Amino acid sequence: DPNVTPYEEIGGAATIRKLVKAFYARVRKHPDLAPIFPGDWAETERKQYLFLTQFLGGPSLYSQEFGHPMLRARHLKFPVTPKRAEAWLSCMQSAMDDIQLKGDIREFIWQRLVQTAHHMVNTNND
Ligand code: HEM
Repeated sequence: DPNVTPYEEIGGAATIRKLVKAFYARVRKHPDLAPIFPGDWAETERKQYLFLTQFLGGPSLYSQEFGHPMLRARHLKFPVTPKRAEAWLSCMQSAMDDIQLKGDIREFIWQRLVQTAHHMVNTNND
């Protein structure tokens, strides 16, 4: 049904909450990713929850609080190398496994995240 958003299709707020929880549980243990995060994991997780909600067609929670996402600009102060982009995606893939997100909708969301992650790369110094 083209009128159902990806947000609704995966189960809305409850599913996004589970996904970001599973995702940051992995990121915070990842030796290449954890050191570049500010360390306030609850706030990082909250922002990602707000962002993914709107990214997947749910309510514009992120923009209501922070304005235009300008994701690439907001990542410039963090060294996002090609290696870190792959690490980020590998944590996301495992998080999708953890919550048993399956099927065409998983593939659709995954492709959008792959594109976005590659777009965030801002340095080549691994
Ligand atoms: C923020 C790393 C990709 C969405 C951040 C922060 C770091 C980071 C270190 C700061 C966290 C904080 O301020 O609490 C990375 C790395 C990536 C990546 C290494 C590898 C490619 C992505 C992707 C998305 C994304 C693909 C979206 C699907 C966000 C959002 C924030 C954020 C929404 C909060 C921005 C803000 O309001 O300041 N990221 N990120 N990131 N990231 Fe990423």
